[in-house]
Amino acid sequence: MGFAHCKEPDQRISSLVKLDLKTQILPANEAAITAAADCLADGGLVGFPTETVYGLGADATNAQAVARLYQAKGRPAFNPLIAHVADIASARAIARLDRLAEALAEAFWPGPLTLVLPKTEDCAVAELATAGLDTVAIRIPAHPVARNILRAFGRPVVAPSANLSGHVSPTTAAHVESDLAGRIDLIVDGGPVAVGVESTIIGCFEAPMLLRPGGLPREAIERVIDHQLVRVPEHTATDTGAPLAPGMLASHYAPRASVRLNAEHVDADEALLAFGAANISGITGSRAVMNLSPSGDLTEAAANLFGHLRTLDQTGARSIAVMPVPHHGLGEAINDRLRRAAVGRE
Ligand code: TXA
Ligand code: MG
Repeated sequence: MGFAHCKEPDQRISSLVKLDLKTQILPANEAAITAAADCLADGGLVGFPTETVYGLGADATNAQAVARLYQAKGRPAFNPLIAHVADIASARAIARLDRLAEALAEAFWPGPLTLVLPKTEDCAVAELATAGLDTVAIRIPAHPVARNILRAFGRPVVAPSANLSGHVSPTTAAHVESDLAGRIDLIVDGGPVAVGVESTIIGCFEAPMLLRPGGLPREAIERVIDHQLVRVPEHTATDTGAPLAPGMLASHYAPRASVRLNAEHVDADEALLAFGAANISGITGSRAVMNLSPSGDLTEAAANLFGHLRTLDQTGARSIAVMPVPHHGLGEAINDRLRRAAVGRE
């Protein structure tokens, strides 16, 4: 498929600092794990698979490496990062887990759940990575390649999604290459990811809060905590003025085409992102059609979401019409990403 090599200039990339690194791409074997750990130890940047999306890793304890990471992605430095660790002992070394956090960790780690927790006094994660907050976001990923890299490296690894800031998140190594070749040191190719949307983020405050819907459905979390999760309204601040959910930019995950949600018909110059039985008017005239899940399965739809958006964007369609997706289970995360993709790109 041609979507990995996009020829059209992208306005949003032109403001990036120019970098000219030689990006090595390795299949995910033992040698690649060692190379990744060595690269991280040298302050390098490594694209690697997690079960949710591909991450761009840097040594969380090395402020210079973290600064390089922000620069490679073109990411605003006020947007803090998730520290990935190999095991619960490593999590406890950088954050304080209360009973609720321990219960969530026990139930869902390793897996697509990130917990925002108070830092320990001697938290080794660089201030730059947490944007000066007194909390740190932590996740133990489930992907075997991610876990092997974390074990081999032995320190926390900050890893945002391995795309240019604001772009659609990568679910294959080819997506990482198309955004970040020349800007990072290494990409470990572990094939397409399983989940397809980023981790669910829970703020472990007095009451646990849903900061970002993601790859772990809220219903599963609510069964463990035994009550309903409050969704934090965007831009909510704490008493001290710090944002509760920093970096939840309204426009994010954006393809170049505009995105039209809850479509009931397709225009001739639009591509269609379908869901379920695609009996929708105008479909025969549509430039391109991709279906998130013809059978209406939300897990399959999440796994296909970002790849299908990229593919449809590459057709050059003016707009991508998106059929409605039910809001339960993984549908909450899918609709969140679609809503962000639709903002401000008219
Ligand atoms: O699935 C994922 O979570 C992927 C893979 C690579 O692990 N990573 C990911 O990272 O999605 P990123 O950087 O795209 O999203 C991290 C989000 C930020 O947007 C930020 O809002 C939130 O985590 N975050 C990080 N630290 C925080 C903190 N101390 N308080 C509140 N939110 C925080
Ligand atoms: Mg991201």
